[in-house]
Amino acid sequence: MLFDRVKPLDAILATAEKKGLTRSLGAFQLTMLGIGGVIGTGIFVLTSEAAQKAGPGMLLSFVAAGIVCAVAALCYSELASMVPVSGSAYTYTYAVVGELLAWMVGWSLILEYALGASAVSVGWSNHAIGLLNASGYHFPAAISNADALMAHVQMAFGSPPNADLLAAAATGGWINVPAIVIALVAMSLLIVGTTESAAVNAVLVAIKLLALTAFCIITLPAMKTGYFTPLLPTGTIGMFGAAASIFFAYVGFDAVSTAAEETKNPQRNVPIGLIGSLAICTIFYLVVASGAIGAIGAQPVVGALGQVLSPGSAEIAGRCASIVAGGAIEPLVCSREALVHVLQVLGHPVMGWLVGLAAVLALPSVVLMMMYGQTRIFFTMARDGLLPGRLAAIHPRFRTPHVVTWVTGIATALAAACLPVGKLADYSNSGTLFAFAMVAVSVMVLRKADPTRHRPFRTPLVWLVAPVAIIGCLGLYASLTLSAILVLPGWGAVGLLVYFLYSRPRSHVGRGVVDVPEPEAYTGTEPPVPATH
Ligand code: ALA
Repeated sequence: MLFDRVKPLDAILATAEKKGLTRSLGAFQLTMLGIGGVIGTGIFVLTSEAAQKAGPGMLLSFVAAGIVCAVAALCYSELASMVPVSGSAYTYTYAVVGELLAWMVGWSLILEYALGASAVSVGWSNHAIGLLNASGYHFPAAISNADALMAHVQMAFGSPPNADLLAAAATGGWINVPAIVIALVAMSLLIVGTTESAAVNAVLVAIKLLALTAFCIITLPAMKTGYFTPLLPTGTIGMFGAAASIFFAYVGFDAVSTAAEETKNPQRNVPIGLIGSLAICTIFYLVVASGAIGAIGAQPVVGALGQVLSPGSAEIAGRCASIVAGGAIEPLVCSREALVHVLQVLGHPVMGWLVGLAAVLALPSVVLMMMYGQTRIFFTMARDGLLPGRLAAIHPRFRTPHVVTWVTGIATALAAACLPVGKLADYSNSGTLFAFAMVAVSVMVLRKADPTRHRPFRTPLVWLVAPVAIIGCLGLYASLTLSAILVLPGWGAVGLLVYFLYSRPRSHVGRGVVDVPEPEAYTGTEPPVPATH
C-alpha cells in the first residue's frame, strides 16, 4: 500500500500544543514577514530576464504569476490555519495525502529553497559588484560570474562556436565569488544561530519598499507609451515563459505559514499575512515593471539569425557584451541589475547607487530565509525518520542543526558559483510549483476526507480555486525552459530511489512512532535529540 501512511492531523496538532511556542506575531508582523521573504532578486534582477522572454508583455506575465500565487495562497491559508505548525507544504501533505507524496513535496522543496537561495545569492553578487564598479573599484571579471565557463562547457558539448558564444568566452568570467561568499556567510550565521528578528525584518522591508517607491517616482514621469509596442514581441508563449520565470519574484510568501505556530489568532492572521503580503508585492511589481518598460524600453535582444536569445544563456551574454563593446547603451534585457540600470540610463546615477545599496543590504535576509527554510525542511524530514538522524545533529554549543546547514550552505554556494541567476530561479520554480500544486490537492482531499473538521479559514470557492491553482501551476511548469522542466522529474527520480531504498523502511510513521517532536526545538530551548533507529 503506497498511500496508506498518513501522519494523523491530531498528532501533529497535539505535538504543536505541547511545545507551546509563544504566540506573539500579529497580522502586521506576518505581512511584513511575507514581504521580507518575497521582495528580492525577482524584481531587482529577473525583470531583465522576463523582458527578454516577453518584452513589454512581461506586465501580463507578472499578472499571470501573481494570480497563480494568489490562488495557491488561498489554499495555503486553509491548511496553515487548520494545521498551524511549521514544516509548510511538507507537513500539510503528510497529514492529508500521506508519506510518499509528502516525501516528494519535501524533496521538491529542497529545490525551491536551496536553489532559490543560490539565485538570490547571485542577485546579491550582481548588485555588490555593481556598487563596487560604480565606486571606481573594478571587480575582476574572472571572479564575477561564470559566463565564460558556461560558453566553454556548451562548446565542449558540441554547440557550434558562433560569434555570441565566442564573445561570452572572451568575457573571461569563470566563477561567481561574491555569490559564494554571501551563501557561506548566510550558512555561518545560521550555524551560530542567527535568525532575523521581526524588528530587523521590518527595517529591511522598509528599505526595499523605499527603494522601489523611489524607482517608481523617478521612472513613471519618464514613461513613453511607444515603449509598450509591440506589446507581445514573442507572443503568448513568450508571455507565459516569462510568467514561469518571474513566478520566482513571488516565492517566499509561504514563509508566513511557517510562522503560524508563533502567531496570535492564526486563524485570522495567517490568511491576512499570506494574502496581504502577496497583494502589496503584486502592486509594487506591476508599477515597478511599468516604470522600467516605459522609461527605457524592454524589447528582447535577438541573435545573428533574428532568433530571440534565451535569457541566462552564454549566447545572450556574448551578444550583450558585443552590443556594449560597440558603444550602444546596454539594453534592459542585458542588465544584471535591472532597476539600477534603468535609473543609470535615465541619468540618475546616485539614485541607481542607492537602489543598488538597498539590494545589497536587503537581499542577504532573503538568502538567510530561504536557507533557513531548507534546513528546517531537511530537519523535519530527518526527525520523521525519512533522512539520516545524523543530518539532524545539533551543534553542542550553538544548539543549531549544523550538519544540515553545512550541507545546504555548500550546495547553495556551489550552484551559485557557476550557474546564472535565471536558470537557478527556473530550477527553483519547478520544485515550488509542484509543492504549491500538492497543497491545492491536499485542500480538496481534506474537504472530502474530513469535512466536519473545524476550518478557521475556508478557501473561498474551493472547488474552483484549488483546481485553478493546480492548472496554473501546471501551466507555468509547462512554460519553463526545457532544462528546468526536466529538473523536476530528474530530481524526483532520485528522490523516489532514496525514499524506497532508505526512507520508507525507517519512517517513524511506518514504524508506528507518531508523536515525534517537531523541528523548531533546534532554535534553542529543548534538546532536539533525533529519535534513534
Ligand atoms: N521572491 C524572492 C526573490 O525574488 C525569492 O528573491
